[in-house]
Amino acid sequence: MTFPVDVVVMAAGKGTRMKSSKPKVLHRLGGRALAQHVIDTAARLSARSVVVITGHGADQVEAGLTAPAGGATALRFVRQEPQLGTGHAVQQAAPVLPDDGVTLVLSGDVPLTRADTLQALIDLCGGQHLALLTLDMANPTGYGRIVRGADAAVQAIVEQKDASEAQKAITEIYSGIMAVPTRLLRGWLARLDNRNAQNEYYLTDVVKFAVADGQTVKAHRISDAVQVAGVNSPVQLAELERAHQRRLADAFMEQGVRLADPARFDLRGELACGQDVEIDVNCVFEGSVSLGNGVRIGANCVIANARIDDGAVIHPFTHIDGEKLGVGVGAGALIGPFARLRPGAQLGAEVHIGNFVEVKNSTLAAGAKANHLAYLGDATVGERVNYGAGSITANYDGANKHRTVIEADVHVGSNCVLVAPVTIGAGGTIGGGSTITKSTEPGALSVARGKQVSIANWQRPVKKKG
Ligand code: UD1
Ligand code: MG
Repeated sequence: MTFPVDVVVMAAGKGTRMKSSKPKVLHRLGGRALAQHVIDTAARLSARSVVVITGHGADQVEAGLTAPAGGATALRFVRQEPQLGTGHAVQQAAPVLPDDGVTLVLSGDVPLTRADTLQALIDLCGGQHLALLTLDMANPTGYGRIVRGADAAVQAIVEQKDASEAQKAITEIYSGIMAVPTRLLRGWLARLDNRNAQNEYYLTDVVKFAVADGQTVKAHRISDAVQVAGVNSPVQLAELERAHQRRLADAFMEQGVRLADPARFDLRGELACGQDVEIDVNCVFEGSVSLGNGVRIGANCVIANARIDDGAVIHPFTHIDGEKLGVGVGAGALIGPFARLRPGAQLGAEVHIGNFVEVKNSTLAAGAKANHLAYLGDATVGERVNYGAGSITANYDGANKHRTVIEADVHVGSNCVLVAPVTIGAGGTIGGGSTITKSTEPGALSVARGKQVSIANWQRPVKKKG
């Protein structure tokens, strides 16, 4: 039996304990907004639609979230103003939920629920039953408790503030996640009231209505607390970030990636790794990064939006950020330590980029080297070029950027300035300390600096006495 799934994400609450001007559900975990994790998980369930309920900071939340890639899952927002409880929140969404579906209720601040867990809950619901995701907790304080009858059937959810002492002793808690046939939900929502300790409309009261209607309420009980953990404070956010990163790290190690320390690995985007990849401590990967076979990443590197080909070595403290243009590092290249590759840096095979070298929007063909203290911006560099220490391309005239072309086998000495637009002909040599403003012929030696003067036996002035 199949039925469409419509997801409701509750995200109207204030998140007071974050003590932040940013709405809680926009705080980032693994580089993505908390609520975006929830939306993306909904897409993995092939949900028909996701309805996000916003309230506090609604404009910001609505601007900060995007529909999942692929376009199969529609994203829409419904506002809840004021916020009168979780039941009231879902009441706001009810008008846009079609009766033929199952509604899956999620929270925008619970980011790490797995899609297979939710699918199991939906299967338990089966388009017929109210199904709750529950969990046993050693310390259930603060959560709604699952009250079961003598026959172990679920009878009700009782909130902490409404619970008797006996109910407070129950360790099975409601995760905040339920799957429910929409046509049934609609009827139960209409019966909610706010006669309780918090004077709120509790979504959890639908359980007692289901029972009163003679329905069996199902519970999918899991043991993995991370999947239902909510973020309420910076401490909880950091704890969940580490749990998330540890899971990612474990998955990479299972694929064969060698992480020096899985506790010091951070992925804030997508990472694809070939075979025999080694990653030392404290590396951060952002955006979309791919590492080919045998790539080694030294300690303390930050790498974003880059493709690193087979056998390349990125030495410690290297910063690579391709942003929109991307960065490519060719097979067997050696980068760093302390190198900086910026958007549009495309390096061929066996290129060497050494310490304190910055490359931006430049292509370096196979075997080119810039080993020390240099800048290559808007440059096209040929094969086997050797670019000396302290040399720079002056690519910006204060208004426009211009290109520098350095043809194959050129040798640029130390401390040169190549004033773009300029072309250095193939095989040419630029004498150290030259400021080159005119293009040079292939094979030429070009020197553009003051001639050296030496005065023999020069006496330095001496300080006058008295
Ligand atoms: C809720 C459940 C509780 C469960 C717990 C799990 C109810 C009544 N209680 O309690 O049984 O154990 O989650 O974490 O549902 N929200 C709105 N509008 C509102 C109120 C809340 O959108 O008017 C949103 C919040 O932003 C949050 C979510 O709903 O994302 C849950 O609200 P919260 O106040 O945290 O509920 P709990 O008291 O934790
Ligand atoms: Mg909560």
